[in-house]
Amino acid sequence: MKRDLLTIRDLSAEEIIELISKARTMKEDWSMGRLEPSLTGKTVGLIFVKPSTRTRVSFEAAIHRLGGRCIFMSARDTQISRQEPLSDTARVLSRYVDAIVIRTFAHEDVEELARYASIPVINGLTDRYHPCQVLGDLMTIQEKRGSLDDLHVTWIGDGNNVAHSWINAAARLDFTLSLSCPPGYGPDSDILYQALSEGRGRIRLVKDPLEAVAEADVLYTDVWASMGREDEAEARREVFRAYQVNRDLLAAAPPHAMVLHCLPAHRGEEITDEVMEGPQSVVFDQAENRMHLQMALVDRLLSRGNPD
Ligand code: CP
Ligand code: NVA
Repeated sequence: MKRDLLTIRDLSAEEIIELISKARTMKEDWSMGRLEPSLTGKTVGLIFVKPSTRTRVSFEAAIHRLGGRCIFMSARDTQISRQEPLSDTARVLSRYVDAIVIRTFAHEDVEELARYASIPVINGLTDRYHPCQVLGDLMTIQEKRGSLDDLHVTWIGDGNNVAHSWINAAARLDFTLSLSCPPGYGPDSDILYQALSEGRGRIRLVKDPLEAVAEADVLYTDVWASMGREDEAEARREVFRAYQVNRDLLAAAPPHAMVLHCLPAHRGEEITDEVMEGPQSVVFDQAENRMHLQMALVDRLLSRGNPD
């Protein structure tokens, strides 16, 4: 049976931990030049409707390192841009490639693609979720901190797609997630209530960002206006001003706290240059780990490593 990764909810807690562990082994194997080419003979199609640097390149690099091949499709150069139904695209691509990574706007489009594809579909970001990002971030946190035990992550800023995937992760794993977002810009209430009703983790909304970071092991932020919301950027700059990750906010957090940002960053808006370049920032290691985590993910979904 094929497996998709559309949200973190598609994985059990055990599978998340296994993926992180496999990714760390593969990272080590890669650095020692002994990575096994588990995707030899496999081809992955990448459909991108929105722009990307990290997700596209980290997937392509991960697949190449494992001996597989990629076919990148900018959606505007495909018949998707001329309204060919995703249900048809899914069935056609399933005849050519072994898996699809898709980045687009509507999460429902990814669900439809997955429903009709007979091959694994991986969500490379939608307006609603960014699961690969948060899986890579969990790997980074475990690597830096030694474990995910007694973890407290604080999300500062927009209650967006990355925040939603953090909420999903908190519901699967046993950690505390505090979210501090301007009024009216919090996470989707359905995603939040679902997580609260099923969750093992503790999820709380904290109005004051200074209070939200007081016990944080991780401070996490992202752009104030995500892709597709650029026309709101100016208005959001006013509303989000008090939610900047800067020297004062970092000073209110425990001294061991690390700063994560999924990137791309708008320096001077959601994060200052000083914090981004400072000793508590791990953003570039975080970006690197996207590739390692995704090596483990495609290995699991595509190679003999998938027990299903
Ligand atoms: N973090 C992330 O997904 O970056 P890209 O938009 O560059 O892929
Ligand atoms: N929330 C951001 C994440 C970019 C990786 C966006 O959707 O634009």
